Amino acid sequence: MTRSILIQPLQLGSLILQNNVILAPMAGVNNTACRLIHKRAGAALLYSEMISANGLIRAGSKTWELVDHAEEERPFALQLFGDDPAVLAEAVRRCQDQADCIDINMGCPVRKVIRSGAGSALLRDPAQVSRIVRAVRQACQRPLTIKIRSGWDLQQLNFAEIATIVQDEGADALILHPRTRCQGFGGQANWNHFAILRPHLQIPLIASGDIFTAEAARHLLTQQLCDAVMIGRGGYGNPWLIRDILALNHPAPPAPPSLAERGQTALEHLELNCQLLGERQGCLDIRKHLCWYARGIDGASDFRLQVNSCQSLLQLRHLIHHFFLRDRP
Ligand SMILES: Cc1cc2nc3c(=O)[nH]c(=O)nc-3n(C[C@H](O)[C@H](O)[C@H](O)COP(=O)(O)O)c2cc1C
Repeated sequence: MTRSILIQPLQLGSLILQNNVILAPMAGVNNTACRLIHKRAGAALLYSEMISANGLIRAGSKTWELVDHAEEERPFALQLFGDDPAVLAEAVRRCQDQADCIDINMGCPVRKVIRSGAGSALLRDPAQVSRIVRAVRQACQRPLTIKIRSGWDLQQLNFAEIATIVQDEGADALILHPRTRCQGFGGQANWNHFAILRPHLQIPLIASGDIFTAEAARHLLTQQLCDAVMIGRGGYGNPWLIRDILALNHPAPPAPPSLAERGQTALEHLELNCQLLGERQGCLDIRKHLCWYARGIDGASDFRLQVNSCQSLLQLRHLIHHFFLRDRP
């Protein structure tokens, strides 16, 4: 495959994405402000944080807040989790007007989610996966993606079986994070699982897991291991990863962002966060992001300490200016 066709439009059912670089759903990280930053870097599709189907049905206002998004975020996918086909289908009916795409989470390893029978607990019950995808497919008028892990543990690597069910029940794409539930985020994502799966799938395969550099994305796409790449932790404080992946079509990679660019983006992220969450919550939530923006820069550990004691927008603006935008020797 030649360089020029690595980045290309991706069709998910009736939805045609401008390119095949997608931002991952990440609870507690990828809120609207963060998603907008990655959208502006070129991500073709943004996923919401995972949202409880039960919470949507019980009309929990906190849960419905997770459905909110800016018009600029579109095309926008809502990711739901749950264990009950009827509840998931009903939740989809109620929220799909506010989404361009629906996803069901079958990969979350968090204990509380597992105990409720949702997330990656579903991988141990292929018949329930089938019932869920069937019910949701019937209810869903939007493109439908399903996000899975490779299996429960290394002894139960059933991603191929689950993927076949998902495809046969009518999903429009499969997202695979090739770790098991029991691996959590340890070790390495096993990209070999993409190689095993892709030849058997007619629907697009979206690769998630350890894509930290544009070269990693190049490898996955040139080896035809997937149709699209999904950026998760690699995007922490680094929307330039998406820009760099999109530039794989170009002969030369873009220059790394200057300190000033990093500072400007950190400021933009801060301002968006405070507009959307209010100053108090916005300043608290941005702390981790600012620490990520500062990674690898001289003085980052002092900056982190200062960020974590800052309470106001004004203080944070000042800190960012001082750290990123002042003249450095
Ligand atoms: C903090 C955090 C939150 C996450 N939240 C979600 C989520 O809400 N829904 C989901 O399907 N996956 C979630 N994931 C998994 C990611 O979407 C992704 O599949 C995983 O991190 C592997 O990709 P990466 O190595 O690029 O981070 C989360 C991961 C992290 C680290």
